[in-house]
Amino acid sequence: MGRFEIVLPEKPIASLDDWLAVGGGQGLTRAKELGPEATIAELERAGLRGRGGAGFPIGTKWKTVRSAGGRHRYAVCNAAEGEPGTFKDRTILRANPYQVIEGLAIAALTLEAVEVFIALKASFGPERERVTAAVTEMERAGLVGDLSVGIVAGPEEYLFGEEKALLEVIEGNDPLPRWLPPYVHGLFATAPQLGWQAHEPEAGHTRGHESNPTAVNNVETLANVPHVLANGADWYRSLGTPETPGTVVCTVVGDAERAGVVEVTCGTPLRDVLDMFGAPRPGRAVRAVLSGVTNAPLTAGQLDTPLAFETFAAAGSGLGAAGFIVYDDTACMVDVASVLSRFLYVESCGQCPPCKLGTGGITNALDDIAAGRGTDESLESLSHWLRVVADGNRCFLPVEEQQLIGSILRTFPDDFDAHLQGECTRPHRAVVPKLLDIVDGAPVFDPRQMRKRPDWTYDP
Ligand SMILES: Cc1cc2nc3c(=O)[nH]c(=O)nc-3n(C[C@H](O)[C@H](O)[C@H](O)COP(=O)(O)O)c2cc1C
Ligand code: SF4
Repeated sequence: MGRFEIVLPEKPIASLDDWLAVGGGQGLTRAKELGPEATIAELERAGLRGRGGAGFPIGTKWKTVRSAGGRHRYAVCNAAEGEPGTFKDRTILRANPYQVIEGLAIAALTLEAVEVFIALKASFGPERERVTAAVTEMERAGLVGDLSVGIVAGPEEYLFGEEKALLEVIEGNDPLPRWLPPYVHGLFATAPQLGWQAHEPEAGHTRGHESNPTAVNNVETLANVPHVLANGADWYRSLGTPETPGTVVCTVVGDAERAGVVEVTCGTPLRDVLDMFGAPRPGRAVRAVLSGVTNAPLTAGQLDTPLAFETFAAAGSGLGAAGFIVYDDTACMVDVASVLSRFLYVESCGQCPPCKLGTGGITNALDDIAAGRGTDESLESLSHWLRVVADGNRCFLPVEEQQLIGSILRTFPDDFDAHLQGECTRPHRAVVPKLLDIVDGAPVFDPRQMRKRPDWTYDP
């Protein structure tokens, strides 16, 4: 257990020749030898699970898309990385974009996809450069055959990374999640969606409407695919835990001596990863560790939890995208809750009224409590909106609000009592750790995020 290199080489892979020299291309060759069904069977045997947050098995996803019918299927790489406290996909793309494109080429072969896309934020300058150069090199070398690899630059919004919103952005629209999942209503689908107006038919479309099943996978998930196929399922399963084989690329930010990204075998205790970054700082103790803004915090007594989907779930939390935000004993958890709730409120798109109204209602109540203006009505409002915020939701964002804020309330009741009595003694003020970069161990957070308004404009 501990550090292990699969997708995050210590020395960046600078060129296609470098990638071929360390075994690049072998995963694609193996997929060609195996054919689609056996490739999926190998990925299932390996137990590779999605690293975008939910841990969904890639074999099941690809099987579902492949069997969903239709003449047109697509594969998409989700490189929109917007989870606060997470910087692993950009680090992987900087270190080795070739493995991700090879993973997409294998997806295309296996799903018999007509086209593939990599969607990342327009602001991800270095990653866009590396991906664009790598695609050009691989196309010239004939490594992606006739496959068209589209690179889509999208907006800053958190929802861009939500898979149904990601497809909207690839189609040229705003990041507003559609109703149905990508394997049911895929890219450029012409099938009507729950009575919504259908997309314009594709050029040359002659038959009935089509749903174009689409597989959306995270950067880290796709990066693993060539390695799994080249080295075999048994090798992959020899790493990690039975339910979460392989490695996981972790980010650490917050109350630590350094911020950074590291790849470790699954099953490594969270504490070991925190130690690598000097968290907590000398003389301080950990109060809470959040894995993004989706799950319940882990507390000081849970730091030995092994990094795996099943163990984090058993601890009452979730591994998410393994972006860890550390809060030490100076942190006021009311302040943390109010800042992160505001993030989710601001980023909610408002298509589902309980989500926008609920995240707003929760944020207002938390702001009042944090500012010492909290009353019984604030608490009633909190518990009302926490109950209904996810009613009729198109996407998972309001469930994140429910899980995150509900669990902070349950785990740190004393902080709320202190605020209601006007006695908070913890000086630390929270920010949204939306990472623009990590430079020599120093995190660079987006200063604009704290000025973002709920209509996605910014305070001057
Ligand atoms: C609000 C929201 C934001 C998300 N942001 C990202 C993201 O930035 N990157 C990502 O890979 N997945 C993100 N996801 C998860 C995706 O919807 C999707 O589950 C994932 O890309 C699937 O890939 P995987 O199966 O390889 O994990 C987000 C989900 C939600 C609800
Ligand atoms: S649940 Fe919230 S964020 Fe998701 S689509 Fe509805 S309003 Fe938008």
